[in-house]
Amino acid sequence: MRTFVHSSRSSRVVFGFGTVDRLREEVGRLGCSRVLLLFSRVPADASARVREALGDLVVAEFDGAVMHTPVEVTEQALAVLRDASADCLVAVGGGSTTGLSKALALRTDLPQVILPTTYAGSEVTPVLGETRDGRKVTQSSAAILPETVVYDVNFSSTLPLGLSVTSGVNALAHAVEALYSAESNPLTDQQALDAISRIARALPRLADDPADPAARADLLHAAWLAGTCLATVGMGLHHKLCHTLGGSFDLPHAETHTVVLPHAMAYNAPAVPEVMRRIADALGAADAPSGVHDLVTSLGGPTSLRDLGMPESGLARAAELAAATPYPNPREVTAEGVAALLSDAWHGRRPTGGPAPAGDPLALLTDQVVASFAEAPDPRVRVLLTDLVRRLHGFVKDNDLTDSEWQYAIDFLTRTGQISGPTRQEFVLLSDTLGVSSAVDLLTNSRTPETTPSAVLGPFYVEGPPETALGNDISGGLPGSPLWVDVRILDTAGKPVEDAVVDVWQSNEDGFYDVQLPDLDGPVLRARLRSDGEGRITFWSILPSAYPIPDDGPVGQMLAAVGRHPYRAPHLHFMIDAAGHRRLITQLFVAGGDYLDSDTVFGVKDALVVDFTPHTGPTPDGRRIDGEWRRLDYTFHIAPLAG
Ligand code: BEZ
Ligand code: FE
Repeated sequence: MRTFVHSSRSSRVVFGFGTVDRLREEVGRLGCSRVLLLFSRVPADASARVREALGDLVVAEFDGAVMHTPVEVTEQALAVLRDASADCLVAVGGGSTTGLSKALALRTDLPQVILPTTYAGSEVTPVLGETRDGRKVTQSSAAILPETVVYDVNFSSTLPLGLSVTSGVNALAHAVEALYSAESNPLTDQQALDAISRIARALPRLADDPADPAARADLLHAAWLAGTCLATVGMGLHHKLCHTLGGSFDLPHAETHTVVLPHAMAYNAPAVPEVMRRIADALGAADAPSGVHDLVTSLGGPTSLRDLGMPESGLARAAELAAATPYPNPREVTAEGVAALLSDAWHGRRPTGGPAPAGDPLALLTDQVVASFAEAPDPRVRVLLTDLVRRLHGFVKDNDLTDSEWQYAIDFLTRTGQISGPTRQEFVLLSDTLGVSSAVDLLTNSRTPETTPSAVLGPFYVEGPPETALGNDISGGLPGSPLWVDVRILDTAGKPVEDAVVDVWQSNEDGFYDVQLPDLDGPVLRARLRSDGEGRITFWSILPSAYPIPDDGPVGQMLAAVGRHPYRAPHLHFMIDAAGHRRLITQLFVAGGDYLDSDTVFGVKDALVVDFTPHTGPTPDGRRIDGEWRRLDYTFHIAPLAG
């Protein structure tokens, strides 16, 4: 049983699509008829909709709200308000407009109706932060809390993706800190988790369609919930840090929240593991801090204080300022701890659960190794090595790896290197059989539906194959079912690509490539052809057969150890290069061939499985063949080079 106190004062909330039309009625409900309309950075058609909805109730307008609510701007707006004898404030915009409305309400006690266009959440809080002489002063009072909030999803739909991400993470921060607040209670927990899950699911949907109405509705709903949490329970280290960074270093509000949140969470994680687990569940991530970081990264949001303009020399002062006055936070706030947190945030590192808890030597070791990469001049090298080491250490830990297992792995890799040479690449084979090559292929070559899918290169490609005229036989007289290949190369618009350089290679009837047969007078079953004016190449070869990848080395032992066969489904390789187009490396698989559904390098894609149709009788070029021959017809579509 949990002991708790819940106390709230809430605004009236009207939520939906097109609720702007209710503004007039809502102003009337408050007994008012003379509106001062506050705007900032609202698109012209949106402000026109508001004016239309309020009609003759508007007696004055002010559009000068700026970030951090400086009192000078409030004074200007106050003069406009008094001149017009307004009896009500209607604010349309983000946190700055809401801030100005609150500042005016505090001075005049006029009722407020807020129509938010971002996910700041401040419209439902009784808190106001103002700047006077460059210092930010925060206060809370009943007069500050807006009477009515009209959420119109249509008004947030045009918020650009970048601002939606930072504003959404700003809302996420309210929900996260509410969950580990000392004042948390079952109701705010529920609101916070609901908000987190809506934000985590809605933001990625916006990346596909920034106007997605359901995603926009989820985000606005989450902003309301998270704002309600912010209004009800106290916040912790994250908010304190953002306040300090915004106030003393003039960093932008929502962007700072976005960068700092994963690191503040990582700092607090050791003190509240259960809360972090619930947040991770709501995010749909394995770990809460890195889950937030990954969400932001995937949406192209900011991840480093450096990129927001924070000077590295200011980090120590910011840490001291944030740690100077004690405030509630689940984990003790030390200047040293905050300095490490800020350093991670400044560099844009991916957090993985915060500084190592005292007494965990492995976590300390991991942190030390990761710290040793901090000054790597190439940030990509730093990111990749950091993640690799964290995963390798995690692998060692999670599997309780023994010394002899570690030695076996070293020996395995040593043998993999030793067996490799100019005609054998066991590391590529290892990558292929573990599906890594296909994973890289999927990510880097994920093509538009109009282009032919790619497939792994494999270890048997040899640079500079023999140039061959169209229609020639590349089989070198080796036995096998004759195969006539007639393929075309078109661009994505369907135009033939002339003079494309097409390298082809394949195994013989027994499943060997020429490079595997030292006694063979090669090269055979490999060639370079050039497409004609119709984008066509033709040649004779033999039907490719299934074959085992070389399995007399460490990779073969690995396959045997897990009970896997070493076979590849039968296929013919193509590498297509044409001026002004992206290179296409792919394979065509024989429909009905063996191992199509268990190819040992995971290389088969449905679109690449094609008929090698059997025929008898006359051949396309009049060559005499007694008995069956095969024919492969296919059209490749290659993509133009970007830009
Ligand atoms: C190949 O198709 O040539 C191949 C691809 C990956 C590993 C081994 C062979
Ligand atoms: Fe192959």
